[in-house]
Amino acid sequence: MLNYYDPKQTPAPQHFLPERDYGTPARLSETLVSLEIDGVAITVPEGTSVLRAAALADINIPKLCASDNLEAFGSCRLCAVQIEGRRGLPASCTTPVAAGMKVTTQNERLAKLRRNVMELYISDHPLDCLTCPANGDCELQDMAGAVGLREVRYGFDGENHLDAETDDSNPYFSFDPSKCIVCSRCVRACEEVQGTFALTIEGRGFESKVAAGQSEAFMDSECVSCGACVQACPTSTLMEKSVIEQGQPEHSVVTTCAYCGVGCSFKAEMQGDRVVRMVPYKGGDANHGHSCVKGRFAFGYATHPDRLKTPMIRESIDQPWREVGWEEAIAFAAQRLKAIQAKYGRESIGGITSSRCTNEETYLVQKLVRAAFRNNNTDTCARVCHSPTGYGLKTTLGESAGTQTFDSVMQADVIVVIGANPTDAHPVFASQMRRRLRQGAELIVVDPRRIDLLKTPHHRGAQHLALRPGTNVAMINALAHVVMSEGLEDREFIAKRCDAAGYQAWREFILDPRHAPENVEAITGVPAEQVRRAARTYAQAPNGAIYYGLGVTEHSQGSSMVMGIANLAMATGNIGREGVGVNPLRGQNNVQGSCDMGSFPHELPGYQHVGDPAVRERFEAAWGVPIDDEPGLRIPNMFDAAVAGEFKALYVQGEDIAQSDPNTQHVEQALRSLECLIVQDIFLNETAKFAHVLLPGSSFLEKDGTFTNAERRINRVRKVMPPLAGKQDWEVTVDLANALGYPMHYDHPSQIMDEIAGLTPSFTGVSYARLDELGSIQWPCNEAYPKGMPTMHVEDFPIGLGQFAITDYVASDELSNRRFPLLLTTGRILSQYNVGAQTRRTHNQAWHDEDVLELHPADAELRGVRDGDWVGITSRAGQTVLRARISDRMPPGVVYTTFHHPGSGANVITTDSSDWATNCPEYKVTAVQVEKVSQPSAWQQQFQTFDRLQLELLRGGNKDEAGQALSGARE
Ligand code: SF4
Ligand code: SF4
Ligand code: SF4
Ligand code: FES
Repeated sequence: MLNYYDPKQTPAPQHFLPERDYGTPARLSETLVSLEIDGVAITVPEGTSVLRAAALADINIPKLCASDNLEAFGSCRLCAVQIEGRRGLPASCTTPVAAGMKVTTQNERLAKLRRNVMELYISDHPLDCLTCPANGDCELQDMAGAVGLREVRYGFDGENHLDAETDDSNPYFSFDPSKCIVCSRCVRACEEVQGTFALTIEGRGFESKVAAGQSEAFMDSECVSCGACVQACPTSTLMEKSVIEQGQPEHSVVTTCAYCGVGCSFKAEMQGDRVVRMVPYKGGDANHGHSCVKGRFAFGYATHPDRLKTPMIRESIDQPWREVGWEEAIAFAAQRLKAIQAKYGRESIGGITSSRCTNEETYLVQKLVRAAFRNNNTDTCARVCHSPTGYGLKTTLGESAGTQTFDSVMQADVIVVIGANPTDAHPVFASQMRRRLRQGAELIVVDPRRIDLLKTPHHRGAQHLALRPGTNVAMINALAHVVMSEGLEDREFIAKRCDAAGYQAWREFILDPRHAPENVEAITGVPAEQVRRAARTYAQAPNGAIYYGLGVTEHSQGSSMVMGIANLAMATGNIGREGVGVNPLRGQNNVQGSCDMGSFPHELPGYQHVGDPAVRERFEAAWGVPIDDEPGLRIPNMFDAAVAGEFKALYVQGEDIAQSDPNTQHVEQALRSLECLIVQDIFLNETAKFAHVLLPGSSFLEKDGTFTNAERRINRVRKVMPPLAGKQDWEVTVDLANALGYPMHYDHPSQIMDEIAGLTPSFTGVSYARLDELGSIQWPCNEAYPKGMPTMHVEDFPIGLGQFAITDYVASDELSNRRFPLLLTTGRILSQYNVGAQTRRTHNQAWHDEDVLELHPADAELRGVRDGDWVGITSRAGQTVLRARISDRMPPGVVYTTFHHPGSGANVITTDSSDWATNCPEYKVTAVQVEKVSQPSAWQQQFQTFDRLQLELLRGGNKDEAGQALSGARE
């Protein structure tokens, strides 16, 4: 029987306790130093500050400019102490401990000094504590109390900064310099934590003040709105507008960001069941208290008026929606599915899981498909992003997952970033990477675009291999060729850890002169010498780590490239310890999890193949039904089958295939062909406009569950408010299964996780109680690894020996397309997330309210295009129109856009060319032509009409008018 997890019965784990600030960062030295503070003996690592040592002994020394996520600065002097045998009263934050030191933290002399310091601060500070938004959460106020300040002898009439103007330009936080004590914590947070260097202290002495950029408004500066400075500020100078408007929160719950694959932990700080602010959680193992603009501030979508709150049904997509109760909606959906299966067969329906949903929800959807639909027609949006990672890493290393923790990058000497843009797509990890780069690690970027990581402040000498889109495999083979032909391989690692026959075959293949950089130069466009230098840098580094993203996977040779990366890492022995590895940067929050949970048509949870009778037998015993032994349809196969009239119904949870999948017109045709489309989502997304049943979804704030980040780290998602529509997503799937006649019952998602643990060898040790105890767990977690496995493949590979794979370069069809002389590549931007359904409903719109086409000045000039002109982008799949932005971030011949706004139609032009092994679409290479135009494309005009119509139908608009408009839209 399953163990029922009752959150009320579970003792509060340590990570719920208030976070303590130890004043200065921890030191890791193995040499220990013993000293005495106020008569208390304490032993700490060498290099620890006296301030931190005191805090560790539970002795609180007053402080203002110090914080344990920043290096000590020593400006406020509040933390002064007396040290036996030393002159003066040194600042404890900048004084390292010494053996035998005797420290006094409290006496009359120190008290007087501290009162003096506070008096000076307060004499230049507004005395509006009672009405200040930080009242009750202000370190200046706390310190005034702690040092016993009762009066200010200097008066308040002298020169001061009380009239300084507030900067309200940032939509999420305000900057009120009248409250600033110039402690520089914000400046240091921006430098040390975020790595952006947007802030400075301008002027000297009394004139000194904090300035963003060149004394600009925050929104005009380099600021990326990560919130680190707001977090660091001990006063209300930098303050969240939500707190100013709503007041201080009164309780908090630790949960996980629902945006990207970094998986940052946050404290949702609440008033009742209303979120006041999201504060990055220091105990978060992935983010250690840092955040980006999305997780920190862009949570307002959860209560946006567009949220769907009532289930709805309709017979056909030209009819208005009819609001119904949950029971009726579920019964309607189940009856439709059953009728369709009765008429067209068991294989005529399927389901799509989402990487935005929890592990438990995803597990249930694939279970619903396999046990209630009785086929394997389940797939996930990871199909269109990281499916080649699954295939490529499983084939070579034996496990479909990244090998390291994020923290491992701090041990890397050379960081190779291939086809990824971490500062936009994985911002918190990018900040950590930049910290390592500032410490001296080398950087090699393999990407057609000059990504922002190449502009890391205080880092020089980055190598940029600006290859032509679509030539990754030629490049990775050339790098490996240099390693092997110059004798830079790690022979010991290869002999001990890799399959000898496979290695010999690969060695012969890769040494072929056709892979020499000099011969590959014509393909990639990268000078041979640059390739040789990069290969040597990586191979000769004590620790070389590779990070890659969708610029690797979303190609016709995505799987080959992933295997090529694994080959290179194995050949150089860069696997199986801290600081090395092969690390896919997963785009959405739960890409890893949705793959782990058996979303793919050929694999049950834990990547167990449906064709394996022993595997099926275990699942059949647990689920009580026979499981089909044939893999089901992948998403593109579902579309093709729908267009062919063979696939008739689809259940889509939390995914917007109409906007995110390639070749939009084909996808729309497939969706229109369905007799029943059931969409479960928090908004009327683009897919929902083609639906017959709308089941309102719940946001991450409204449910319990887990997400698994790019490090394989399972983090808890905790419900902080009731679901707006009354049900968590997992409950809806359960209801649908029951209505279809397949019994499902769970009282809490913890029971779903218990079931997963019982069926998935890599999850046997995972439970909610264990997650509460440990904070997070990196799978595998089982008897052998009860606390999980931070670094994979230390002793051996799950398949025993590493398998080198032959990765011949095959040019993409798109590369040789003469009608369309430019190559379009797509990507993301920091402020928006994926299809934008969430971020477009937040103030993040202030940074990116439309997708634009970036094109090189030379390509623009050739076409007479100026910055801001409308341009038509045409591929063999279709045409769309965007505004042009002239930029030299890409080489000539390459154009770039994002896909965050549905009306942009970025996927109208992407084609159905896809990865040979997994069908992952080739989003990164589309041959296009660009020309100046004066009106939206035909597709965009249709889109606008259809969009207006569907919004009208959602509001219950007139059926006939709606129908007429739809006919118009179809023409
Ligand atoms: S919000 Fe972040 S990037 Fe902007 S100034 Fe503050 S720390 Fe720097
Ligand atoms: S804005 Fe806040 S953190 Fe920055 S210097 Fe002023 S008081 Fe310190
Ligand atoms: S979007 Fe990613 S980096 Fe930003 S807070 Fe969320 S998980 Fe962290
Ligand atoms: S806290 Fe040490 S000088 Fe400010």
